[in-house]
Amino acid sequence: MSRLVIVSNRTPGKAPAAGGLAVVLKKTLSERDGFWFGWSGQFSETPEKQARFETIDGLSIGQVDLTRADHNAYYAGYANSILWPAFHLRLDLTNIQSHWYEGYRRVNAQFADALVEHLEPDDVIWVHDYHLIPLATELRRRNVRNRIGFYLHIPFPTPDALNAIPHHEDLLRDLVAYDLVGFQAQRDVAAFHEFIAHEQIHKQTGGEPMVLDIDDTVLEAFPIGSDPEAFARLAVSPNGRKIAKRVSAALNAHALILGVDRLDYSKGLPQRISAYEKLLENNARLRRTVHMLQIAPPSRDSIKEYQQISDELDSAVGRVIGRFAEPDWLPLTYVKRAYAQASLAGLYRLARVGLVTPLRDGMNLVAHEYVASQNPEDPGVLVLSRFAGAAEIFHDALLINPFDTDETAEAMRQALAMPIEERKERWRKLMDSARLHSVDNWASSYLDRLMGLGDTPDRDDTGDADVSDADARPLSTPPAGDPANRAITVTPRKHRGTLFPWLKSVFS
Ligand code: G6P
Repeated sequence: MSRLVIVSNRTPGKAPAAGGLAVVLKKTLSERDGFWFGWSGQFSETPEKQARFETIDGLSIGQVDLTRADHNAYYAGYANSILWPAFHLRLDLTNIQSHWYEGYRRVNAQFADALVEHLEPDDVIWVHDYHLIPLATELRRRNVRNRIGFYLHIPFPTPDALNAIPHHEDLLRDLVAYDLVGFQAQRDVAAFHEFIAHEQIHKQTGGEPMVLDIDDTVLEAFPIGSDPEAFARLAVSPNGRKIAKRVSAALNAHALILGVDRLDYSKGLPQRISAYEKLLENNARLRRTVHMLQIAPPSRDSIKEYQQISDELDSAVGRVIGRFAEPDWLPLTYVKRAYAQASLAGLYRLARVGLVTPLRDGMNLVAHEYVASQNPEDPGVLVLSRFAGAAEIFHDALLINPFDTDETAEAMRQALAMPIEERKERWRKLMDSARLHSVDNWASSYLDRLMGLGDTPDRDDTGDADVSDADARPLSTPPAGDPANRAITVTPRKHRGTLFPWLKSVFS
């Protein structure tokens, strides 16, 4: 039976995971044969060529050490000071240092070197996120003919932002070295189409378009989800109940407004605090009846822009407390620490309002987890940014523009005042959507698609076609929900001539 090989920068560890990716993929792999491969979290003097394998939580995990310099260039540099801000349309926060790109490619080549000897011919390789865009190119260079898929957990940039990334042409060619590229949202597939459309316009006006052969790659949206049933259970588990009871006692019957986010500038945290400030400013009668809890575990704190957002948030929180606190009432609590899933689930269930208001976000799994943790008889209300991928599936949340603090404040007020019947009705629809887009459905639809694509085409470096060859392809986003029309889906031109041996049921 074919194995599943998951590759990502971080692998599952023993501590609670700050990001959504590790949480989600652990479950996927635990139900299949295979292993997970990535960075060990440790440094070595010279690049480690051999992976070390160990078993963590029943999963086989292969890891390599990186040199400190390579890690800095690859992770803090190219991935998180260029790709992350540009993909989130924060070109003002990019920090471009040209040598970082070499480190980024070196680490991808090192991953490929260490991975290749552990691969079997039938393995399905599933690569995750922006740290590893070049990995398929590197594996193909080492004669790996396996089926390789990629999934992007962050938004795909608009053409202008993509053009601002040094070596973006290489990255696009790297993407189309995969058999399947999965995105979080239709918005992201549309952004990819838009780049191609721009290149065609560039050609029509006499410019030199970039050469990109997309014929052998399927690009499609696969909205990721959580494990809603597990969260529903965790919310009433002993640990979930314990924290809810303690916080509930401290709240003294005040309604809880909750935000849980990695401390990242894409999450719109200062804007959210300002919106809460407006809520209190415009609704004096709410002042002693509500309490906001913001949980924000710090991340990437070696990067200057992350230190700045942390300082900015400290100051926004201090401002609101100084302005509205009274000796016997605090408007807000800010906690810079990560919590275990059960504790978060307990808190989500307690919260009357869940705030998920990023300025731009891939999917945002907190939105899914908040919905799944609610009490069906007394559910809270989700206030959700239009710029989170989750807005494409959670139509019954209160959707807001996070840059508009008046609108966000008004949504909080509406959420607090919402009658129980409307809360139940909205929650039922949100929960249906969370179930439909569960992590199980996401993983199986992605893997079914990857395995059902047919034969792996022979790729060569000379077969590039001008993008104008793509004239017959749709350039606007086709309607969602029609699988035949959901993306640029082009029949592969070149085949090896043997039937791809995997069956749909192989991992089931
Ligand atoms: C996002 C990314 C993940 C990343 C996570 C945590 O969710 O898509 O790839 O693991 O953030 O960030 P970190 O830099 O701490 O791994």
